[in-house]
Amino acid sequence: MKHDSSAEADNKPSFGARLTGLNKILITDIDNTLVGDNESLRKILELLEEYRSKIAWGVATGRSLDLTIEAMSEYQIPMPDILICSVGTEIYYGPDLRKDKGWEKHISHRWKPERIKEVLSDVDYLTFQEPEGQRSVKISYYLEDNADYLAEVHKRLQDKKLQCQVIYSHGQFLDILPHRASKGKAINYIKYKYEFPSSKIMVAGDSGNDEDMLKGKNNGLVVGNHSEELNILKGKPRIYFSDCEYAAGIIDGMVHYGFFPPHVMEKV
Ligand code: GLC
Ligand code: MG
Repeated sequence: MKHDSSAEADNKPSFGARLTGLNKILITDIDNTLVGDNESLRKILELLEEYRSKIAWGVATGRSLDLTIEAMSEYQIPMPDILICSVGTEIYYGPDLRKDKGWEKHISHRWKPERIKEVLSDVDYLTFQEPEGQRSVKISYYLEDNADYLAEVHKRLQDKKLQCQVIYSHGQFLDILPHRASKGKAINYIKYKYEFPSSKIMVAGDSGNDEDMLKGKNNGLVVGNHSEELNILKGKPRIYFSDCEYAAGIIDGMVHYGFFPPHVMEKV
């Protein structure tokens, strides 16, 4: 599917204009949460279309905007209302992909990417990700799953008093972000900006870079196929672990929190 944002922009209202009639928002991770099982993906997209006048939805992903659009084309996902990209360091609104400049400015506070790279330059177990993974406000490496390695990265950055956030996911990705940015913080900013209550938001994810958005005050949903990193959230308030996998888990969560009526599960 082609995403001709200008054509879509012409006939669809902006998120701000749409907000008045809405009473719920779903924010979901893409890889291994929204996508992974095609049948339930088609089902949830149908449901989101059916409930479009009441429920807005967005993605929150580690992918850059370009890689997000690539996934949307590959899986034929229509333009969401909100796109939180690069692990919460970039926010865009559909349908015309307008960038939230206020967020960009807010998170760049005390961000010293060159210093961070320098402090980690001689760490031999860190490998830089491809250029697409590197953004002005996100430095990304590959790191094998090893608690000592991760602890040393934290320690090095702390010793130099570098204010930043270290996020590890899927047992292989290490993202370093400004201390004001993360998927969860980006959602908090949107909630504040649009005066939208946490109780009306459901967030869905499967791995370590979803942890902070799941831990917030929103209704959290962890899909059945989640990575081990999220086991620490078991038993925490407002976090529902679904037995269903991928998008079927999201639908189950939407029913659990009363966003969709129970009968929608019959066809999942
Ligand atoms: C996506 C990004 C990558 C990041 C990972 C985990 O795969 O492309 O840069 O490290 O998500 O957040
Ligand atoms: Mg994921």
